Parts: sequence; C-alpha cells; structure tokens
Amino acid sequence: MNYKNLLKDIIDLDRKTLLHPFTRIAEWERSDPLVIAGGSGSTLFDHQGKAYLDGTSSLWVNLLGHRNPNIDKAVRDQLERIAHTTFLGLTHEEGVLLAQDLLDIVPDGLSRVFYSDNGSTAVEIALKMAFLLRRGKKSHRFLSLDRSYHGDTLGAVGVGGIPRFHETFYPLTRESLKAPSPDCFYCPLDLKRDTCSIDCADAAIDLVRRHSDKLSGVILEPRLQAAGGMIFWPEGYLSRISVEVKSHGIPLILDEVATGFGRTGPYFACQLEDVTPDLLCVGKGLTGGYLPMAATIFSEEVYRKLKGDPGIFYHGHSYTGNPLAVAAARATLKELRETAVLSEIPKKRTVFDPFRLALENLPRIGNIRSLGLVFAFDLFEDNDLKVPAGAQLMTSIQLDAQSSGLIIRPLLNTIYLIPPLSVSVHDLETMCDRLLQAVRRMTPQ
Ligand SMILES: Cc1ncc(COP(=O)(O)O)c(C=O)c1O
Repeated sequence: MNYKNLLKDIIDLDRKTLLHPFTRIAEWERSDPLVIAGGSGSTLFDHQGKAYLDGTSSLWVNLLGHRNPNIDKAVRDQLERIAHTTFLGLTHEEGVLLAQDLLDIVPDGLSRVFYSDNGSTAVEIALKMAFLLRRGKKSHRFLSLDRSYHGDTLGAVGVGGIPRFHETFYPLTRESLKAPSPDCFYCPLDLKRDTCSIDCADAAIDLVRRHSDKLSGVILEPRLQAAGGMIFWPEGYLSRISVEVKSHGIPLILDEVATGFGRTGPYFACQLEDVTPDLLCVGKGLTGGYLPMAATIFSEEVYRKLKGDPGIFYHGHSYTGNPLAVAAARATLKELRETAVLSEIPKKRTVFDPFRLALENLPRIGNIRSLGLVFAFDLFEDNDLKVPAGAQLMTSIQLDAQSSGLIIRPLLNTIYLIPPLSVSVHDLETMCDRLLQAVRRMTPQ
C-alpha cells in the first residue's frame, strides 16, 4: 500500500469534509496535520509507524495507556452480550455495579449516580439539580471562578470564565457571578504571594455572603483549573470556600471532570482537603479514555428532594449508561483498585525534580508547578517574566516537540505534561527530556 498517497488522500478529505474542535481553521487549512493510526501504552503511532509519547493523555482522558489489555477485553466481552440498551426506564447489571464501584471511591456522603456521556453534560445535570434543590427560593444565579472551564454546552458556558472561549456565547446563556481565580503567580488582587490564598478565598466568601439568597449553587474545579491555564490552587482555598457555601445551605458542585481518578494524586482532588460536595461531576478518565461517559454523583438529600419535587428528573441522553462505556469504566476502576498505579504516583513524580531544576536554569520560564502527575510552566517574551510568550513561539515549541516524538498542546503561554497515570518512569523521563530540548531549541539564549 502506498502510505504517502493514502495519507494525502485522508488529509485532503479531512480538509474538505470536517471542522475540528478548538482548532484554528485557517491554520488547519495551511499545514498538514499529524494523522494518528494507532497507540500502545503511553505512545501514539502515525501511519509510517513513527512513535509519539502522548504528553496530554489524549487531552487528559487516558489513565492506563492505549490498548490496555484489560479494558480492551472488557469492551470485547461486553460486545458479545450487547452494545447498547436504553437506561430510560430499564436497567442493566453492569450499570448498577458501576454505580457501586463509583460510590466506593467518592467522598463519604455521596450516594447516588446519574450517568451521561461527557463532562459538559455531567455539569449541565449538576446545575439543573442544584437549581431544583433551591427552587422556590427565587435563586437563579450560579457562582463560579474567573478562568473556570466546565464544558461547552450552554449551561456550562454560563458558568465558564475564559473570555476567549465563552464570551461570544454569553448572550445565549445566563452568566454566573465570578470570583477571582486563586492564581498566586498572576495574583488577580495584586497581593503578596504568601497571603494570596487567604485573600482570594476572602473575596469569594464575600461574594457568597452578599449573594447567598440569589445563588442556586457554587461550582468549582477543585485544586486545579486545567483549561483555564493549569492554575494550581493554594492549599486551604477549597476547604475555606466549601465551609462557607455549605453554611448557607447553597449546593456545592465540584467539577472533577479533569481532576478525577488520580490526576492530582488521590482518586479525587477534593479528597486532598476532605471536602464533600453536594454534587460531583466526573468524566474524561472514567472509562480510562476509551469511550465517552460521565456521571453526576450526589447526596441522598438531593435524591430525596428530586423525588419529592418534581418527582421525575427531566433530563437524559440516548446513550445514558451505554453498556460498552460502562464495561470500560468498570475495568478502569478495577485497575485503579487492584494495581499500584495510584500508589506509584509519588515515586513517579520524582522524575519532575531534575526537569524542574533544568527549567529553572533557563531564561524566560516561570511559574513552574506540579500536582500529582500534572506538570506545568509558563513561557515569557523576556526575562522579567512580564509579557507572556506569543502564539508563534508556543506553536514552534509544540511542533518541535512533535517532530522529536512528543505530543503537547500548550494553553496560551502555558506548557504542560499530563501523561497517562500508567506511564513508565522511562517514558516520563523521555517526555521531560524531549520537552526540555524543544524549549531550548526554540528559545536560544
Ligand atoms: C473541568 C472540566 N469540566 C468539564 C469539561 C468538559 O468535558 P467534555 O469535554 O467531556 O464535555 C472539561 C473538559 O476539558 C473540564 O476540564
């Protein structure tokens, strides 16, 4: 087979027929994209068999490697039984057992699961449930954070806080009240870094107090605002706000679509601060990055309220509880339970130590940070670390890394690595090394 021609045909047909998400259209039309043909473990392959380490876990979804034999088998076995049956008014064994698997690992106090098929819908469902909980109180606003990202459906856009993603669509939705994001490096309140966590929390708490009667809920991405620029929160911020929100009886929604299932170390980031939300949104890693599935997990109190009024939850999707996705999810959770993948995170993290040191010695780099197996740093135009690096430089680093065999996807001037949790120490070292070399090559001193 002539792969060169085949590849050209695929790319031409792609350009003629498709529109890609979050992809600059003119650039897509100009340059040839990488066409992925396969994967194994932490590696992706193109049509020529060239290997690329997956430095974004295929956009933060893959936990246990591509073609994980146990997840592969679970999906194949499920195919032998049935691919899909509705969850509206019917049930199936695997769907019931997955709910129990999830309830075994979420914070105590959460006892019910509602399935959907992506992170945005898990958030929509949480927003609707919170609204129903507070119905009658005439409270119709949500509070969220600047630079928050909760997905692209309209409810999620309303609570989103990234102007370049969300602003265009705000007229279609009801924009939430926004508290400052606790990003110590770019302190929005221009305070000293060592007091930043306290004062940012105070600003959010003040908003909660002033608007408590209006609020249907508060929605947060605990400890790590990923899409907003890999913003790592200072310890204590989450727990302080949570106590305040709960003291007013306002539903607390924690969106762990990006942080769930070990990304920050424990199963869920809220467990770092012993916080239990009223509603917890999970997605992405739930199926190990195999199939689209998400869940909104909530307390018995929420369930009782919904049962009383309206008595039926008017929300559902054709593929709610899809058995193939459920099988992938159950196999993923089994691996997380029965292998050392979570307990090995602290050891694997040590790979970041020499990487951090090397970066600290480079000019124009600042805000180096990490949590769990997430590592990020920012690039600037100058050594004062004041002007963020522009799109051209960031793209040149991305493409250089790609040609050396590493997939990354910077967020403005932030470069990050989010490897699959199952990444080997060797592959993680190679990711760090390739990234370091790409940054060095593209920012000569
Ligand atoms: C915190 C958070 N919530 C929600 C979403 C939306 O998830 P999905 O892309 O599956 O709709 C994302 C996606 O990146 C996310 O990071």
